[in-house]
Amino acid sequence: MKRLAATFILLAGCTSQSTATTDPSVVPGEALTYYQDTAPIFAARCVACHSPGNIAPFSLETYGDAMKYASLIKPAIANKLMPPMPPDTSNGCPQIDDERVMPDAERDQLIKWVDGGSQAGDAAHPAPMPNVVNALGAPAAVYDSGLDYASSFAGRDEYRCFVIDPALTSTFNLVAVGVKSTNPAIVHHTIVYAQLPAQKAAVDQLDAADPLPGYECFGGPNFANAITLGASAVGSEPKPFPNGSGAPVPAGTRYVVQVHYNFDNARGSNRITVEAWSAATLTQIPHGIGTSNYTFKIPAGAVGVQATAMAQFTTTPLAGNQGKPGLLWSAFPHMHQIGSAIRVDLVRANGQRSCVIDIPKWDFHWQGSYQFKQPIQVAAGDQLLTTCTWDNSAAHQPLIDGVPQTPKDITFGEGSTDEMCLAGFTLTDF
Ligand code: HEC
Repeated sequence: MKRLAATFILLAGCTSQSTATTDPSVVPGEALTYYQDTAPIFAARCVACHSPGNIAPFSLETYGDAMKYASLIKPAIANKLMPPMPPDTSNGCPQIDDERVMPDAERDQLIKWVDGGSQAGDAAHPAPMPNVVNALGAPAAVYDSGLDYASSFAGRDEYRCFVIDPALTSTFNLVAVGVKSTNPAIVHHTIVYAQLPAQKAAVDQLDAADPLPGYECFGGPNFANAITLGASAVGSEPKPFPNGSGAPVPAGTRYVVQVHYNFDNARGSNRITVEAWSAATLTQIPHGIGTSNYTFKIPAGAVGVQATAMAQFTTTPLAGNQGKPGLLWSAFPHMHQIGSAIRVDLVRANGQRSCVIDIPKWDFHWQGSYQFKQPIQVAAGDQLLTTCTWDNSAAHQPLIDGVPQTPKDITFGEGSTDEMCLAGFTLTDF
């Protein structure tokens, strides 16, 4: 993602709604059991990834599975490594609306279950399982890529962009977009970008220059002013744009889908399908603002190097990195592989500061677009301040073909060993 489009960055977080029900009548001191207590938690928080054919390395679908991995589950849950949800919302930062956010009470239950000997309980009378509801219903349109991509990539992570033409002859009022994969075991996340008719030549050139299907694309779709329409991590359902808003996708637009393939646990081919939801009318069009620093330098070997990027809300939005005030609904922080932390603060016109999002341990693999439970009101004069921290020591280098890189001086760039310090935000009017 080189330059952020000033008025039209649409980052829909993607979730399904699910609630874990746990039995409140548990007698204190009694060992928790799988069927009575923890099965609904595993179902709501884990099995979207931890089930056969999905991205996690083992299944947690049955009592036998969960019991087998109990000794690994306790530290992963206690240290908040699982479910993967990098933002820290325990420190006064806004709550995030996502099924991967796991309440502490549920963490305690899993830990107590392990401590109590990971017992099965009464299989004949299981606790009710969570309802996983996709509020969107059936998509209005489905676009098949028509391509079974069989990767011959030798490394662990491949980033590839595929161009899909929905053959739109009139404006499509997009309210949500998602990507389905035939082989989710190798798909880490997907991002859907709009390629407007004016950007077609640039994308055709990228596609033609790469001998394989689609084109290699690490940090973003590699064409200027790409508009992000939606991002989805494995195991989540698409979520609509906020506040009744949507994107009027013009005739002639194509979708460019960035797929992050991860080959840690599986290989094989994959075919993507774009699903789009629409509305007859849109009450408003979300707008965006971005913060990005292009001038930082991270010396080889240095730890804790920081850079900041700022954007201010104005009543008369200018071209470039500025936007108008409204309700702030989501944040998409982005760095590359030697990033170690990223945080965004809202600095009010009167100098007051509050947290927007805080990722204390940046992990390039688990980046995403995060939607807030409650939107944040921003006024003219308020600023968004993004602070990036890097660790460029020998111990924190990316692997390329299995080989850790030697630290070198790093600056802004799109390559996998360049860095970025940016965050994009989605807003609607009040
Ligand atoms: C969004 C997908 C996803 C969800 C949801 C998820 N996991 Fe994982 N899990 C993974 C992946 C992928 C790995 C492999 C390591 C990695 O990539 O971080 C993993 C690894 C693990 C490990 C092994 C860690 C180690 O020590 O090697 C455990 C234990 C685990 N998960 C438990 C859970 C539990 C329990 C839940 C639910 C409370 C859960 N996970 C939810 C994707 C997920």
